[in-house]
Amino acid sequence: MEHFSRIETIKTEVQNFVIQDKESLEAFRLAYVSGKSKIADLLAEIKNIPQENRKNYGAAVNALKELAQQKFKEHQQKIEEMLAQQVQAPQIDLTLPAVPNALGSMHPLSITKNRIIEIFERLGFNVSESYEIEDDFHNFTALNFPPNHPAREMQDTFFIEKGENDILLRTHTSTVQVRLMETQKPPIRSIMPGRVFRNEAISARAHCIFHQVEGLFIDENVSFADLKQTLYHFAKEMFGKDTQIRFRPSFFPFTEPSAEIDISCLICKGKGCNVCKHTGWVEIGGAGMVDPNVLESCKIDSQKYTGFAFGMGIERIAMLKYGIKDLRLFTENDLRFLQQFRHL
Ligand code: DAH
Repeated sequence: MEHFSRIETIKTEVQNFVIQDKESLEAFRLAYVSGKSKIADLLAEIKNIPQENRKNYGAAVNALKELAQQKFKEHQQKIEEMLAQQVQAPQIDLTLPAVPNALGSMHPLSITKNRIIEIFERLGFNVSESYEIEDDFHNFTALNFPPNHPAREMQDTFFIEKGENDILLRTHTSTVQVRLMETQKPPIRSIMPGRVFRNEAISARAHCIFHQVEGLFIDENVSFADLKQTLYHFAKEMFGKDTQIRFRPSFFPFTEPSAEIDISCLICKGKGCNVCKHTGWVEIGGAGMVDPNVLESCKIDSQKYTGFAFGMGIERIAMLKYGIKDLRLFTENDLRFLQQFRHL
């Protein structure tokens, strides 16, 4: 009887064996299906079974063998199907087109600044930069601002430290002119782009941080005609060959004579519209002949040398060129705005 209970034990094992992958299938095969399996051992035992029980024993072992083979085949098929599916549907579909690598775009102010540099570089100007944190001397005194000039007052300038020589955020790039003239001998021919700061409420037309580009040309016999020609050339290169330019008499402490530079309105071509307030002209900056006092305060001989200077707002130029109506767009980082400059 012991032999029959062994068959029952192995039958329970076969029924309870969990086959879930290739490895467990193989373990099942070795234990219950192969030529050296427990069931093969049971069959080999038959010679030790008393004659009268042999038939029943043989039938019981064969039934068990059948059961084990059946279970093996079923699971073998399932696992093969499962593996085939995995091969057909890998996790990554290698045939899909690659996700395009989106390129960023240049900021419109960088595009404008680079274009300005390009135009002046071809006229022989180099590019200079200097500090954003300055002192009163370089921002005002050396530029011939009288001691009680209103631009020194709190409403315009961000002061950092009050003292004998106040520390402040530069209010214009004209500071770089001074830095250049202090360290270089004429001839000087340079443009100076950079960030400037003024204590202004932020609106569509004004910001407390904006950009300017300064120009300076110092040599013997530099005249107002040179200034006019240079800026006329710039206007045509920047805004198109039909662009006109005009100078309006003005005042800056550091230039004499001084002028405000206007270009003919790009929108209405000079006929009059909202952008040019129906005058046909829009202002892009200031200019003039460097005041001899400025040359002298930078230790340049004003008897020997003359020079012109100009300063323009980079935001203003970008707004005119690209038809941008609100200054705040430049600093809001709205992708819908920035992406429009992708192809420039
Ligand atoms: N610094 C002036 C400003 O911020 C602009 C300017 C005017 C610069 C005339 C110059 C110049 O170099 O000659 O308003």
